[in-house]
Amino acid sequence: MGRVGLAPDVRRFRDLAAASRALAEHVVERAQESVAETGSFRVVLSGGRTPLGLYRILADPAASQVPWPQTHVFFADERCVSPRSPDSNYRAIRDALLDHVPIPRANVVRIRGELRPPSVAAAEYSRRLGPDTRGSRGPRFDLVLLGIGPDGHTASLFPGERALVARRGRAVSVAEAGVEPFVPRVTMTLPTLASSSEVCFLVAGSDKSRAVARILSLRSNGRHPLPAARVRSRGPVRWFLDRAAAAGLSRGSTAIR
Ligand code: 6PG
Repeated sequence: MGRVGLAPDVRRFRDLAAASRALAEHVVERAQESVAETGSFRVVLSGGRTPLGLYRILADPAASQVPWPQTHVFFADERCVSPRSPDSNYRAIRDALLDHVPIPRANVVRIRGELRPPSVAAAEYSRRLGPDTRGSRGPRFDLVLLGIGPDGHTASLFPGERALVARRGRAVSVAEAGVEPFVPRVTMTLPTLASSSEVCFLVAGSDKSRAVARILSLRSNGRHPLPAARVRSRGPVRWFLDRAAAAGLSRGSTAIR
């Protein structure tokens, strides 16, 4: 659910490639609008494999015109591993996107997951995220991109975990990840994710269709058992789904694009 009362915007596509292309176009639009309005575009990127195709499209200047010099990149979560580890979200996003675009290094606000203990990494990231808004210019982020797991987790907010109800700290550590890789994590909290003008989920695969149906069919609320259902924004929450992930939704809900 987006702003209280705003129904989620659900878009269904024939496959992940089509959903990724559509979301890339949307990201470019939002980036250009944000830079025109505020001089910058502050985007939070998700880890995992699903968005890598999207990141590669955004890295291709022929396919997308993101104003990279004015763009600031943050991370929804990170595994507590070295940034050179194959499990590092930062490494995957750097390889797919950041190494290929003219974004100033200082504009990439990495979670230093290699710091020990993980609570130190979370506290440092909370400080680096800065104030809850951009001064008078409103929300801290212009766009948050997220995925979900088959258990309905998002970022590294897992069902039943303490991090899910964290209200203090803009990022917190998670001792035990609920999915592979089973390493500690650092994750933005729900209030931090909610301080965005908009959230977009990109979800693909039949293994997630049950979670998608539970999230989108039940009236979402702050106590919903699935973490992704608790994600809010100050504006819309949009779902870019492939056919398999949308299979559990009622037929009439969204046309295949
Ligand atoms: C992570 C992500 C996580 C991811 C989901 C989906 O660190 O892994 O932040 O929340 O978005 O687990 O992962 P896939 O896209 O690989 O299915």
